[in-house]
Amino acid sequence: MDGLKHAVSSIEEKSDRTQPQAGWFGMDGIAEERMEKTMKTRITEMLGIEYPIIQGGMAWVAEHNLAAAVSAAGGLGLIGGANAPGEVVRDEIRKARALTDRPIGVNVMLLSPHAEDVAKVVVEEGIKVVTTGAGNPEKYMEMWKNAGIRVIPVVASVALARRMEKYGADAVVAEGTESGGHIGEETTMTLVPQVVDAVSIPVIAAGGIGDGRGIAAAFMLGAEAVQMGTRFVVAKESIVHENYKQRIIKAKDIDSVVTGRSHGHPVRGLRNQMTREYTKLEQEGKSFEELEYLTLGALRKAVQEGDVMNGTVMAGQIAGLISKEQTCKEMIGEMMEQAKKLLNRE
Ligand SMILES: Cc1cc2nc3c(=O)[nH]c(=O)nc-3n(C[C@H](O)[C@H](O)[C@H](O)COP(=O)(O)O)c2cc1C
Repeated sequence: MDGLKHAVSSIEEKSDRTQPQAGWFGMDGIAEERMEKTMKTRITEMLGIEYPIIQGGMAWVAEHNLAAAVSAAGGLGLIGGANAPGEVVRDEIRKARALTDRPIGVNVMLLSPHAEDVAKVVVEEGIKVVTTGAGNPEKYMEMWKNAGIRVIPVVASVALARRMEKYGADAVVAEGTESGGHIGEETTMTLVPQVVDAVSIPVIAAGGIGDGRGIAAAFMLGAEAVQMGTRFVVAKESIVHENYKQRIIKAKDIDSVVTGRSHGHPVRGLRNQMTREYTKLEQEGKSFEELEYLTLGALRKAVQEGDVMNGTVMAGQIAGLISKEQTCKEMIGEMMEQAKKLLNRE
């Protein structure tokens, strides 16, 4: 009997975590109630954005035109630091700022040889939101916190989310395996509610979200915003080659494939000559170095030159749902309207 009571109370305790926590940022009950009825969340408040939509910091794709267009449309645009030197990122930040005065963020790829420089540039340029990928941002936490930067690591497991909260992260992006690019193994559907239960900082859902239904579903799982990559690749403002956009637009549900699992570096992209060759070599047991050689510069080749046969066309499983090129304003407006209707919110 006691066991059953414990189970019930732990379910209640857990399900309480999916509700807004009391006293968020010192808000009173009325303010909290208002947030529950609107699409305003701790994330929109914290980042000073109108809609709970973040454009992922995508290597080669997330440059100033796209980031500024998403921010101007009321979401949060991120500049993807990837492996770029600090000065290139500084230039991108300044160019984005010339296009919009809304907040812009930067994704810092911690494994980049230039990570240290980029970490300093975001402080010098007065950036207020940083997302981090591929590593532990602890080393930069004090510097960023002192500069008033909100730090949001991307995580693919509950354990990492907990660790990031302990290091002082302001929120986490829980990214499911449906995503385009480098991925973890858990699905968005299973990962997001488990991370929501495990941490008290707000959670942003990523992976497989392509329309208002996806946003509504993420909110039902307890997320307070979404991060989207694949859909924004085909935005009108995105500088990605037309061949790349058309490959996503024409993709079917089963067109994405994961390469690199055998070496512990799985990447999701759309099936082509390159992925077939990679998979063949992977099955033959080729070394990580040999496989890396094949993909060297391959994303740039697809993004800039439009070689979608021999380049890497990073995109997520949701590519099959994406059917047209639109401006960021059109995309965000359409998605928010659909999500609000489904969630019965203003
Ligand atoms: C072309 C492409 C490049 C990406 N590059 C990065 C990157 O450099 N750093 C990063 O943290 N995430 C990267 N991502 C992941 C996105 O930021 C985002 O989390 C992901 O795309 C969300 O899933 P979705 O594609 O299903 O919307 C990339 C995704 C794509 C499609």
